[in-house]
Amino acid sequence: MPRYAILPAPSANRVYAAAAMDLAAAELAFVDRYSLGGRLGRLGIDTFGGVRYLTVEAADPLGEDDLVAVGALSSTYAVFEIETAGRLRPIRGGGARDRWDEDLITIPRYAGRTNDQFTALLLDVAVACTRSGKDARRLRVLDPLCGRGTTINQAVMWGYDAAGVDLDGRDVEAWATFFTTWLQDKRLKHAVERRRLRQSKAIGAGVRIEVSMWADKEAQRAGDGQQIVMVADDTAACVEHFGARSVDIIAGDLPYGVAHGSRSGGRLARRPDQLVADALPVWREVLRPGGSLVLAWNVRTMAPERMAEAVTAAGLEAVELPEGHSFSHRVDRTITRDLVIARRPT
Ligand SMILES: C[S@@+](CC[C@H](N)C(=O)[O-])C[C@H]1O[C@@H](n2cnc3c(N)ncnc32)[C@H](O)[C@@H]1O
Repeated sequence: MPRYAILPAPSANRVYAAAAMDLAAAELAFVDRYSLGGRLGRLGIDTFGGVRYLTVEAADPLGEDDLVAVGALSSTYAVFEIETAGRLRPIRGGGARDRWDEDLITIPRYAGRTNDQFTALLLDVAVACTRSGKDARRLRVLDPLCGRGTTINQAVMWGYDAAGVDLDGRDVEAWATFFTTWLQDKRLKHAVERRRLRQSKAIGAGVRIEVSMWADKEAQRAGDGQQIVMVADDTAACVEHFGARSVDIIAGDLPYGVAHGSRSGGRLARRPDQLVADALPVWREVLRPGGSLVLAWNVRTMAPERMAEAVTAAGLEAVELPEGHSFSHRVDRTITRDLVIARRPT
């Protein structure tokens, strides 16, 4: 029976410490169940030459699509086939879905930024369970609390269209400055349109920024580009800004109650309960039927049972995790992070 070994990027240990391997296993088990059709067998953790690998069996040798899925896991550094015990044959590197240079993800650094490896995990999970009927390569991802755009940049990295909204207009402007500079530095064809929004509740100026980008002139002529729309406003206005049934994936993270608070109806709170109750029905409306919603949150500010109730009350159905796996992990003394994963019924 073919066996494979996945070498996790060294950064995975730095980000998740002791939970790194469990999270990698949970991501792979989830992708297998919802995207590969349960082709993979037993997952394990094995040590070769003193280095720990995530290992997996398959009934048949993995095909190219399976290998892309394994190579696209957020923590994959390299994938090997285990020829005989302890002999590893390299078959592909990580970043299997990356479309642009890595610095799109690695340059931005600021306080309150969501870790990029975790953002890739979250988006990978959302892509795996989306059933919106859209070609998986042409998905549209909305981060409804986008900050300075970590999820947006990851979605662009994988070739998707992206949309983001944040109440803090300064964050949206900071993203636009970074992104347009990056496009210029890479000499990518692009067009930017800005519009002031008079009705916006944003902190700072309300603005809508639309960016279209293409790899080159030929792609532009062929209409083969990506579109990003960023808005500074309250997330409650998502339907007005992006339209009902307009996105395949909603992905992002709720304010953790440490660097960021949750605002709803103009009130700031440490806990996200009110924001979640008010915004979930709006987010459901923006999703295409079969589309997925994956949000990270700090379980110390809202219990998992309450989150599950809020999701169901908004008319979304929870997506089950493969048995024995969990995405819950400790970030620091004040944050234990988990994912809520749900779908708009078809
Ligand atoms: C955890 S942060 C997101 C950080 C982001 N992933 C990044 O890496 O830059 C949560 C964001 O939610 C925003 N926020 C809170 N309440 C909001 C609301 N009602 N509408 C829109 N954004 C809101 C905050 O301004 C903050 O930027």
